Amino acid sequence: MTPQPSAVIPAAAATLRRGGLVAMPTETVYGLAGDALNPSALARIFEVKQRPAFDPLICHAADTAGAEALVSDFPAAARALAEAFWPGPLTLVLPKRARVPDLATSGHPTVAVRVPAHRLARALLREFGGPLAAPSANLFGRLSPTTADAVRRELGGKVDVILDGGPCEVGVESTIIGFGPDGPRLLRAGGVPLEEIEAVAGPVAPAPGPTARPEAPGMLASHYAPRTPLRLENDGAPAEHGPDIGWLLFGPTGSFTPDHALNLSPAGDLREAAARLFQALRELDEDPAVRLICARPVPERGLGRAINDRLRRAAA
Ligand code: TXA
Ligand code: MG
Repeated sequence: MTPQPSAVIPAAAATLRRGGLVAMPTETVYGLAGDALNPSALARIFEVKQRPAFDPLICHAADTAGAEALVSDFPAAARALAEAFWPGPLTLVLPKRARVPDLATSGHPTVAVRVPAHRLARALLREFGGPLAAPSANLFGRLSPTTADAVRRELGGKVDVILDGGPCEVGVESTIIGFGPDGPRLLRAGGVPLEEIEAVAGPVAPAPGPTARPEAPGMLASHYAPRTPLRLENDGAPAEHGPDIGWLLFGPTGSFTPDHALNLSPAGDLREAAARLFQALRELDEDPAVRLICARPVPERGLGRAINDRLRRAAA
């Protein structure tokens, strides 16, 4: 029996208390949530996602106090960022407390924490009353889901509950910031633009480039990949032509009108483009007529940085 809307959150929280998994909408992408303090729930997350154990999970909390309960040190720069952007698409990597299982952090001495902004994620976290580990709700290396339907198609049957919160507003994953002896460091471009982070925390050291080495968790060169090959074209290079090429475009394209094309934002709005990115890639990927996806980089500012990062990794 499908529970009534008002009973959905308590039922999902009860599933989590039993060690079950709940697909939870967040403002960035859908997450595959389990009790962050229950090692067997964590093990199931890795199993369902077919995720390698070296890639640590993000722990979600209902509020800053909930995040504080997971970390042993909250430097001033991290606190300023939390105050500015939580709840929201920002993840902070900080020294972990002993109570956080090693499975959640893949053995790292640090834990990634975030307070999400989505209404249903917040309701679930409050009702559950503890932290939830939640990677994006897709198979490892694949596109992150931005709708409940995308979760259903990829993980349906392996997840106990799928909460439908509509399409995700931000559409790219959270910005991840680490803190070294030299101050904040960008670990992943995401939903909070770097310019906004730097306005609060001062200069941020750049993200390491894509790498094939597993020591840099989640920074694998090939990630967020459709099944159809994706080529990132350089601006100005002659465009590929052919009926079997699916184009991912951005902004006004003038006389360039290929057969198969999706425009992330005809008006050239990077926020709109981020919100549409993964769904557009999915549509081109699922179009049987498309043999190759071609994309051009978007402007490298604001959310454009996160979009280009995902496109580069999808092309790797
Ligand atoms: O927006 C998001 O962040 C989404 C939603 C569901 O919250 N979650 C998400 O999780 O993107 P996931 O598992 O796909 O990405 C987690 C990434 C890891 O791949 C790694 O890059 C980084 O977070 N991470 C986690 N713990 C870390 C740690 N201790 N040190 C460095 N990076 C860490
Ligand atoms: Mg992911």
